Amino acid sequence: MVKILPSILAANFGKLDQEIIAVEAAGADLHHIDVMDGNFVPNISFGEVVIDALQKQATIPLDIHLMINDPEKYLKNFLAYKPAYLTIHAEIPAEIEPLLLQIRAADCKVGLAIKPKTSFTEIKEFLHLIDMLVIMTVEPGFGGQKFIAEMVEKIAEAKEYCTRNNLAVEIEVDGGINTETAMIASAAGATLLVAGSTIYNQSDTYEKNIKNIRNACSI
Ligand code: DX5
Ligand code: ZN
Repeated sequence: MVKILPSILAANFGKLDQEIIAVEAAGADLHHIDVMDGNFVPNISFGEVVIDALQKQATIPLDIHLMINDPEKYLKNFLAYKPAYLTIHAEIPAEIEPLLLQIRAADCKVGLAIKPKTSFTEIKEFLHLIDMLVIMTVEPGFGGQKFIAEMVEKIAEAKEYCTRNNLAVEIEVDGGINTETAMIASAAGATLLVAGSTIYNQSDTYEKNIKNIRNACSI
């Protein structure tokens, strides 16, 4: 069964506690937490002060997505939150293997994210070091963008390769997930779906929004 991860980036930060409670009651599996440094991506989101507040309220696991150029500097701080998954990007200007090993050594599931322009082939050599491949289906940096349809092929390629080579790597899809794209992404092999604007919008209840995504996947 797929896991649904509301992205806190789309929540109302004026009432973060209530948002956390509401989205958990609505059936969220994990909180997806987007940390952006304004360098790796053209946007600054939030850092530890906000995650501290969030963690105090959260009763489900955290999935931290680091969109930062220098994760090495902060890895210990993020590992201290004991997230279920900690993800770094393959495109950062640093050697990624030691970082992946450091995450694993901390008993945290290791995530590796790739931007739309990064091919699956480019990260194959790291698959034995990770637990989750995050396939970005939008350019990282902002919520509310349109799913890039060409990424479906990459999801299918990753799924097929991991199955064929007995690699226990889960596939997460991040960006532009709604009921329609959730169906397509899960059919291609994704088992973790991040959704910001589709869940944290006010046009329906969070429960309905999450249920709609889940139902779309079981079709
Ligand atoms: C984009 C972030 C996403 C974003 C998803 O850089 O990594 O997690 O919050 O937002 P939606 O679901 O609105 O595309
Ligand atoms: Zn994300």
